[in-house]
Amino acid sequence: MNPTTIFAVALIATGVLALAGILAVAVRRGNEPGPMTAAELDRKALERDRSRRVEPTAEAPSAVATLERTETETETEAGPAEPPVDPMLQRVEVSENDYGVTRRQFFNRALLAVWGLFLAQFGLFSLAFLWPKLKGGFGTKVNAGKLLDIKEQLFDGATIVPLHNNPAQAWIVPFELKLLEDVPGNSFENLPFLIAGGEDDGIGIMAMWHRCVHLGCRVPECVPSQGFECPCHGSKYNIHGEYEAGPAPRNLDRFAVEVNDAGELIIDTGNVVQTPRAKNKTAMYPQGPFCV
Ligand code: FES
Repeated sequence: MNPTTIFAVALIATGVLALAGILAVAVRRGNEPGPMTAAELDRKALERDRSRRVEPTAEAPSAVATLERTETETETEAGPAEPPVDPMLQRVEVSENDYGVTRRQFFNRALLAVWGLFLAQFGLFSLAFLWPKLKGGFGTKVNAGKLLDIKEQLFDGATIVPLHNNPAQAWIVPFELKLLEDVPGNSFENLPFLIAGGEDDGIGIMAMWHRCVHLGCRVPECVPSQGFECPCHGSKYNIHGEYEAGPAPRNLDRFAVEVNDAGELIIDTGNVVQTPRAKNKTAMYPQGPFCV
């Protein structure tokens, strides 16, 4: 199972669990007796008071009698007392324990749970998006095949025919190693990992991302002009991806490359290298009519 599938399964499982939790709480609430009405609460408080009432004795007058005497004294001192209030109409404080979970609390908690679920899913999706691919494809090291086979396809006589590699989203082009010395100040000085092979015939290989560095359009090759020409806004690059014209701010981006022990070209699409607009270019452009 690839990581995306694992994350999708985890998301669905989280959603199902959260939904089950909310339903379980709702069902439990449905089976419980609902909150008491005010009249029921008043009646309950009245019964509780009656059960606590102690019958008066000669030595110990009842609390009610004491209260009545106090009221009479108070009335004498401070004028007529308030008329007695019917116990059925008295407000009774109800503790949270007596009341249980209110409907408002339930909905607040459900809302919080939904928000939590949403944030968790957002976080997981972000993680899945940023997670490096574990099994091949763009973002990893792509095996482009035997270097010798690739080189055979790159030339039509003296004309260079760039080779496209779909999994790596890359244009593969040849690069004469002696240009590194012949063109001082070129864009690839001190970046040897951008060119692979060529120890035997002096022809190395470069892999350039096919994405235009202006606004990201896919840049096609133009064999007649020996370059790459973007159809979106007309940026132009020579056969080595060096900037030639248009709004592009730099050369085409490229990937680190290497040749493994089996003689295969490995394109590391997780290692993208940007280079500034070339001052001293390593290829002539154009060498024929433009395509764009
Ligand atoms: S996207 Fe290529 S020139 Fe604008």
